[in-house]
Amino acid sequence: MAFPQGFLWGGATAANQCEGAYDVDGKGLSTADVMTVGGRGKARQVTKDGINPELYYPSHVAIDHYHHMAEDIALFGQMGWKCYRFSINWTRIFPEGDELEPNEAGLAFYDRLFDELERWGIEPLVTISHFETPLGVIRKFGGWESRQMVDCYVRYARTLFARYRGRCHLWLTFNEINNMSTNSWVAAGVDSTDEGVRARAAYHEFLASALAVKAAHEIDPANRVGLMYNGHLTYAATCDPSDAIGTMKFEHLMMYYCDVMCHGRYPGYKLRQFEREGIELPVEAGDDAILREGTVDFVSFSYYLSHVTGQKTRGIFKGLQGIQTGYDNPYLEKSAWGWGVDPQGLRFICNQLYDRYQLPVMVVENGLGAVDEVVVEDGVERIHDPYRIDYLRKHLEQLRLAIEEDGVDVMGYTCWGPIDIVAASTGEMTKRYGFIYVDMDDAGKGTLRRIKKDSYEWYKRVCETNGASLEEE
Ligand code: BG6
Repeated sequence: MAFPQGFLWGGATAANQCEGAYDVDGKGLSTADVMTVGGRGKARQVTKDGINPELYYPSHVAIDHYHHMAEDIALFGQMGWKCYRFSINWTRIFPEGDELEPNEAGLAFYDRLFDELERWGIEPLVTISHFETPLGVIRKFGGWESRQMVDCYVRYARTLFARYRGRCHLWLTFNEINNMSTNSWVAAGVDSTDEGVRARAAYHEFLASALAVKAAHEIDPANRVGLMYNGHLTYAATCDPSDAIGTMKFEHLMMYYCDVMCHGRYPGYKLRQFEREGIELPVEAGDDAILREGTVDFVSFSYYLSHVTGQKTRGIFKGLQGIQTGYDNPYLEKSAWGWGVDPQGLRFICNQLYDRYQLPVMVVENGLGAVDEVVVEDGVERIHDPYRIDYLRKHLEQLRLAIEEDGVDVMGYTCWGPIDIVAASTGEMTKRYGFIYVDMDDAGKGTLRRIKKDSYEWYKRVCETNGASLEEE
């Protein structure tokens, strides 16, 4: 059997991209709630001061999962899922981010969510912070550049560990923590391209993560806490050794986050860079021990595409509104959003992370953002999405090889956006990943009706057969 017993098949979402109900039951505002929709390639408009009534903010309604939660979980459960990765919205629990007491109504919502997961026998995997920094603490402290964020985050994380003790054993501290190097506003509520600012914000997130790992283990020894890395797999543009060095530098830029969280200390290449650039970390007595004692239990990552980099790669990213690669890869086809589709890259990155850290890995995001069309056949609405099945099938085949041939310890696979949700990079609904279609458009118009796509039955078979159905195709 290629996929091990107990392999965690499922799907993944983020609160701000699906819940809606942005001001319900005492919820406060987060970075996501002040970001508007932007078309392909266009920058999002961001207002840090609050809501502009003339603009449309996709997080405010999203797919209203808040009020469709039981129905949505039932659709997941009927697919035979073993695991559901979702994020808890910090501002439901601590509306401003720094209160001393949590908001009971927010906690109660997730109690109900855990109830539904238990009903369906689905194991939860919770992202504690997924692009949802509270605006309150950004206004007061300036976001993660401030050390005060560490206390706020740890109080929030401890509240979750205590409240949901015994109900959830798998946790991720920060979604795609390396997005600090590409979009620090989304990653940390810090709007800056300054390397020093980003280094300090990351330092505080590392401390917060390490303290959360320690607290999670203390509160329930059965807890396992992972990091979450945006899987920026990259190939060198040519076999010119200078290109290989350029690619190594790009990997250093991205992977230092994982190095700190897995090894409990900064890698030499990063310390030398800080020295060269005159960047000082705000280290206080005892911090080294915090990092050392709070290393993660497993490495999770997202994987959608690969990059090509080299000696001339400069300014590879232009924010989260569309991933820019250094060079084009002529061997790959591209998605409608220009993301190079590279199934073998998934095998590659599983090996890369496992070789480097010798910790279990988990694919917690993967999928194809595509335009779907609803057709009516014999009076029934259908969505034929063979392109999505093809993408996922090819990636799962490579995941199987990583496990079977390469011996990588892979805990599970939760594909991204199993029900259509708002795209993080553009705010669009048009960019759909789901097995379940949601009738909602980019302007927030639609009935929110849920319709199963062809891929729904396909993935159901994959989950129910523990991947064996892939071999039949
Ligand atoms: C990851 C994020 O970067 O990519 C998700 O963790 C996001 O939040 C996903 O939705 C896909 O990106 P997009 O922009 O297509 O939604």
